[in-house]
Amino acid sequence: MTNTSELALRHHDADGMYQLRAPLLTVYTEVYADLLGDPFFTPERFWERLEAYAKWPGFALVTGWLRDELVGYTLGYRLPTRSAWWRGFRGDVDPQLLEEDGKRTFAVTQLMVLPGWRRRGYARQLHDALLRDRTEERATLLVKPDNIPARTTYLSWGWQRFGQLQPFDDAPVYESLMCEFSDRSHIIRL
Ligand SMILES: CC(C)(COP(=O)(O)OP(=O)(O)OC[C@H]1O[C@@H](n2cnc3c(N)ncnc32)[C@H](O)[C@@H]1OP(=O)(O)O)[C@@H](O)C(=O)NCCC(=O)NCCS
Repeated sequence: MTNTSELALRHHDADGMYQLRAPLLTVYTEVYADLLGDPFFTPERFWERLEAYAKWPGFALVTGWLRDELVGYTLGYRLPTRSAWWRGFRGDVDPQLLEEDGKRTFAVTQLMVLPGWRRRGYARQLHDALLRDRTEERATLLVKPDNIPARTTYLSWGWQRFGQLQPFDDAPVYESLMCEFSDRSHIIRL
């Protein structure tokens, strides 16, 4: 008999993302229910951002399923040469670290698990599946400083504080985190 609490992981490219539009938005609207009144967080704006990420090479989506129910997912893309990603960055780092050559950095742009299925290690499984075979040197992501569960999670997984970043004028100011892949074993359970 199938163990119903065992998460099935699936990998998708951009086409796969479009095929999963409805369930991806269903999970998003449940996870971000409290923020949907903010124009930046409406499902329409969220989907526009996903479409923008999906245009870039190196785009990847990993979904987690229990039987036929999508319970969480994570996705990201490789920052292109002279990416606008770092435009709203605030922090005291070597400017060379903000230069993108189209191969260097994988940006994790989403990681979410439905509220009813948290604290079971599912986010960790999604995270590891997304990052395990990446060819870039490093990964970066943004987290709201008051998002204690996510921030605690990332720092406990080995991500490092890098600075602050406001990606769009009407977006929140996020904390920018970074992880180097030189020794991937500190960040991913291989
Ligand atoms: C952040 C999130 C993806 C974690 O999902 P999850 O499946 O519960 O995470 P996991 O079970 O894999 O890992 C949890 C680890 O993170 C930490 N963690 C998770 N939830 C936490 C909480 N509420 N408070 C403190 N630490 C927490 C713990 O270290 C935990 O390990 P433990 O359960 O062994 O103690 C989930 O809370 C979520 O979807 N939040 C809303 C979306 C979001 O904020 N995403 C991140 C955007 S940057």
